[in-house]
Amino acid sequence: MRDRHSDLKSSKEQKKKTRSKKEEEAYIAALQSADIEATEEGIRKYLLDRRRKAQMKRRRRLLVIAIIFVAIDLMVIGLWHYIVQEENTLEVSFYHLSSDKVDSGFRIVQLSDLHLHEFGEKNSELVEWVSRLDPDIIVITGDMNMHYNDDVHVVTELCEQLVQITKVYYVMGNHEWVDHIDRHTDIRDKIVATGVTLLHNSYIGLEINGNRVFVGGLTNEVSNYDKYSGPKFMEKFMAEDGFHLLLVHYPEYFLGKLNDYTIDLAMCGHTHGGVVRLPIIGGLFSSDQGFLPKLYEGMQTVDGGSTVVVSRGLGGDGYIPRINNNPEIVVVDVNWY
Ligand SMILES: [Fe+2]
Repeated sequence: MRDRHSDLKSSKEQKKKTRSKKEEEAYIAALQSADIEATEEGIRKYLLDRRRKAQMKRRRRLLVIAIIFVAIDLMVIGLWHYIVQEENTLEVSFYHLSSDKVDSGFRIVQLSDLHLHEFGEKNSELVEWVSRLDPDIIVITGDMNMHYNDDVHVVTELCEQLVQITKVYYVMGNHEWVDHIDRHTDIRDKIVATGVTLLHNSYIGLEINGNRVFVGGLTNEVSNYDKYSGPKFMEKFMAEDGFHLLLVHYPEYFLGKLNDYTIDLAMCGHTHGGVVRLPIIGGLFSSDQGFLPKLYEGMQTVDGGSTVVVSRGLGGDGYIPRINNNPEIVVVDVNWY
């Protein structure tokens, strides 16, 4: 081992000597071509100068690498802080809808896709916001839990507080559905026990500020629309005479399946606002619509004349962080002014 180390050292020294010799020869040749005599002192100074320059070059290179590393670290830390801060800063989006079926205005507050996120202890900040908005009804459009996680106290604690503000109507999303149907957990019973009205392919007739309002909940994803009697429910719901408010987790229903109906107001979630939102381009991705989704946020009139509101939601799936996409509370004022 020791011999090998000595061999390596002497080989390095040999290379260094050869390099110096070559540099010396090149220097003498350059002087001769310029008709200048090479002195021993001149050669020594020349070689010393060369070594000093090479050393400075190496130091400069190391400094640049260190600066790049520090800059990358600072950028990552800054981005992380920005993401954490943004994911905890609530935003309220207000929309107004005019309807000739409504005489006296009313306010709907929508929450969606919480995914067990907490804004303050027991979601006190979220509850405070909803309370201040003073809604006539609160609607929840699913995915408040995380599937395969049986601890849903964040959802039940929130619901228990919301029912103290006003009536709450809840439709399940894919995360509740997986736990309820595939895993046979008691999530549905726990939600119902909080006092919210859970609508599963069913509807309820309400009197809100003197208006006849039918609130329906369509539970299943588009591919299971027929399997779980979706068409039968929609037929009955739409046959009612009054303002139709449909809660359905999946906005994809309005890219074909439900475009034959004219629904006064449909409220959806599921898209998480496209997760990452870029200026001009908008939301980048949604699980069921892929890249550059069509229906991922805001209020719009779709083919068939339905007004559809898609909430960007309040949380995420835990894999890709939301960027430029604050958690959103949606307010829809119907004939408010
Ligand atoms: Fe979701």
